[in-house]
Amino acid sequence: MAELVGIYAASHGPLIARDWNRLPEALKRRLSAAYGELGRRLATSGAEVIVGLAPDHWTNFFLDNLPSLCIGLGEEHGGPPEPFMRDFAPNPVPGDPALARHILETALSHDFEPSLSYRLRLDHGLCLPLSRMALAPMPRIVPILINELEPPLLSYRRCLAWGRLLRRAIDSYPAPTRIAILATGGLSHSIGEPTMGAIDEDFDRRCIAALARGEEGPLIDLLEHGAARAGNGAHEIRNWAVAHGAAGGRGFELLDYLPAPEVYVGCAYAAWRV
Ligand SMILES: [Fe+2]
Repeated sequence: MAELVGIYAASHGPLIARDWNRLPEALKRRLSAAYGELGRRLATSGAEVIVGLAPDHWTNFFLDNLPSLCIGLGEEHGGPPEPFMRDFAPNPVPGDPALARHILETALSHDFEPSLSYRLRLDHGLCLPLSRMALAPMPRIVPILINELEPPLLSYRRCLAWGRLLRRAIDSYPAPTRIAILATGGLSHSIGEPTMGAIDEDFDRRCIAALARGEEGPLIDLLEHGAARAGNGAHEIRNWAVAHGAAGGRGFELLDYLPAPEVYVGCAYAAWRV
């Protein structure tokens, strides 16, 4: 049987790659330490596959076809199209179609209706954290892309349910496979709107506290009522909610949080107990 060996989350942001050489040394050290710690934990876990929970930044989908949640079944996935990610490797990224199909079939048999794609590209949302974690070799990736750009969006209640469903799928996967979950995105940030660059540290800290307490009700209340006011990038906390649902309230460890205006993101890094 498969084993869920770790559940992790990390923020991302284009400037963490594009402007890396211009960032203050202290910020680079802190970001490097956080991504590095997640990379060490992932390596120590022996994960052969990472289920990557991420937004799609208009890389695969647009207004003519915008699934709420899409599972990538490809043997491999295209690498990031952004010029600032041109050095990302491996490209293409190895997939795991058998596990992806099992997750999809488990979902459909439990009244969830995901979309699917055999031809996804992974953009900076997943690839930036993966590159900063310096995983060698890169585990296979099963991407689950969630619409966090164009409302209406999945409710946070449904994201938690998706997490429980994902846990059920991993726990029932018959192949002896070590599987980790990596959620990326958030916390507060605002991109391409009048509040561009704003970070809501108070919201971020309340979000972290709610995750640490583990109770779903207060977390859902905070996110449903507060996330939309914490900048359009805060919609990406849905990936954290899915990870939280998969963890089943067994415990949450914040590795670091730093509101970083230089990269426009309230940057947070975490691991859940599995
Ligand atoms: Fe993003």
